[in-house]
Amino acid sequence: MAIKKITAFAPATVANFVCGYDILGFAIEGIGDEVSVSFNQKFENTFALLSNHSELQQLPPEKNVAFEMVKQVQEAIGRTDGIHIELNKKMPLNSGLGSSSASAVAALVAANALYDNPLSTDQLLPLAMEGERLACGTAHADNVAPSLLGGIVLVKGYQPLEVVSIPVPKHWYCCVVHAHVDVPTRLARKILKTTIPLKEAVVQFGNIAGLIAGIYSGNDQLVSNSMQDVLIEPHRSLLIPYFQEMKKLALGENAIGFGISGSGPSVFALCKTEQQATQIADAIEQLLISAQIGRDVFVSRISTQGAHIL
Ligand code: HSE
Repeated sequence: MAIKKITAFAPATVANFVCGYDILGFAIEGIGDEVSVSFNQKFENTFALLSNHSELQQLPPEKNVAFEMVKQVQEAIGRTDGIHIELNKKMPLNSGLGSSSASAVAALVAANALYDNPLSTDQLLPLAMEGERLACGTAHADNVAPSLLGGIVLVKGYQPLEVVSIPVPKHWYCCVVHAHVDVPTRLARKILKTTIPLKEAVVQFGNIAGLIAGIYSGNDQLVSNSMQDVLIEPHRSLLIPYFQEMKKLALGENAIGFGISGSGPSVFALCKTEQQATQIADAIEQLLISAQIGRDVFVSRISTQGAHIL
C-alpha cells in the first residue's frame, strides 16, 4: 500500500506593514516553505531537512519549529503515532520575510491534513504563535496569521486573540529586497524601547487607523500618508545597510510606501503597478550591487492564498 504523504506550502510574509508593529502583516506570492509529512511506523517523530541551511542543520530536530508544530498538532488531538517530517526550506533564515513562520504554518497545515483536518484554522493559529515563541522568544501573530490565512491580516488583539482579514486592493504589487546581512528577530526586538512617549503613540495610532481606513476606502494617498513608523523604524533601520538610500529611491519613484519587512533586513515598497514595483526593485538592486551587498529581489502581488496542500 502506498504511504500517504502530504505536502503543505506556506507563504512568506511582510509583517508590521510599516506602522503596525506586531499587529499587521500580509502574505506574498511565490516565496515560502514546504513541509511533507507521512506516518513512519515508529512511535516517535523523525525529521529530515531537505535544504542546506547550515544553521538549521546544526539544530537538534526537536528544536526545529516544524518538528515542534507537528508535535503540537498531535498533542492537541491526543495522537501518539510517529510521523516523518521533511522540511523543504526555500527561504533564507533571519531575512524578515517570516521564514520561521512559513515553516511552522506549513508543518501545522500538513500534520493537520494527515489526520484529516481535525483542527480549524482558529485552533491552528495559537499553535503557530508558539512556533514563533520557539524561534524568536515571543508569540506574535503578524507573520503566522497572514501565512496561514493569506491576504492582509490585522491582529486586533492578543488577549483574547482576535484576527481580522482586511480586503486586498487588487492593483497593489510590492517589491521586496532582502540584503544579505544577518538581523536575527530576537536581536531586532531587543533593541526596541519598551515604553513610548504618549506624543509618539498618538502619531502611530493615527497612522494605523489611517492605513486601514485608506485600504477600505481605496484611497492610496491616505495609505501612503499613513505608512510612517515613528516607533520602530528609527531604531531598526540602523541595522540595515543603505536603508535611507533605498527608501529615497522607492519614494522618489512614487511608491505608495516603503519600510522594513518584519524585523528586517528585508525591506519592501508597496506599489500601484507591477511596472512600478519592477522599476523600484531594479533601482534598489543596482544600489546594492554598487555597494557589493548580496541580495534577493522579488516582485509580487499580495497573496490572497494562505497555506495550502500541494
Ligand atoms: N512583528 C515582528 C517584529 C515580526 O517586528 O519583531 C518579525 O517576526
